[in-house]
Amino acid sequence: MEVKVGQDYDVNSWTEVILLYTSALKQMQTKLEILNDEFQHVHQYNPIEHIKARIKTSESIVKKLRKKGYESTIQNMVDHVNDIAGLRIICSFTSDIYKIAEMITNQSDIKVQYVKDYIQNPKESGYRSYHMHITVPVYLSDKIVETKVEIQIRTVAMDFWASLEHKIKYKFEGHAPDDIIDALIECSNMVSKLDKMMLTLNNEINSIKEQTNEN
Ligand code: GTP
Ligand code: MG
Repeated sequence: MEVKVGQDYDVNSWTEVILLYTSALKQMQTKLEILNDEFQHVHQYNPIEHIKARIKTSESIVKKLRKKGYESTIQNMVDHVNDIAGLRIICSFTSDIYKIAEMITNQSDIKVQYVKDYIQNPKESGYRSYHMHITVPVYLSDKIVETKVEIQIRTVAMDFWASLEHKIKYKFEGHAPDDIIDALIECSNMVSKLDKMMLTLNNEINSIKEQTNEN
């Protein structure tokens, strides 16, 4: 994405850039609703429990640029902050995460830039989630702009863990006591075990349903 940068243009560019990210989020939300409805029609169930969307605040954008050692310019923010537009998709089962990721990847206008699978490789904190960095074309009156969106896909249980861990991290400003860190890691392992058990149970229920329908 090319942005005109200059003192006179900065306010306009900021508004235009935010408009692009907001449009990209709207488009992704509609795409996901359609995929979810189609999935319901074909398989009689919804893989998506709910979706949260957010635009990063200007304060957080500036903080991230500073952390990465870049000046606070609009071009730097567009080039170096990949999560200005963020979508979080919450689903019931781990298997849904990979189904949703595949459906997103198969959309011909979406370009997957990179993926971080924190389910196969959880973070040291115990964080589990599947992250996709994509671009989606936004159609303006005179141009098409490929706009970046960060998508986090996780189960309800992983989301429960992440929101508590985030609160704790925030409260202790990143320096939580060791016993709390250890307890969080233990909870994360329990979340993983719970997700596995719930998936197994769900598969068992489905196979019983199929047998009943066959008879
Ligand atoms: P950030 O600067 O945090 O965005 O890191 P990054 O650009 O290296 O990406 P990373 O994949 O580590 O994290 C992206 C996002 O995932 C974060 O902004 C959080 O929303 C989420 N996340 C990553 N690690 C954790 C974690 O340990 N705990 C929680 N609660 N969320 C996390
Ligand atoms: Mg982030």
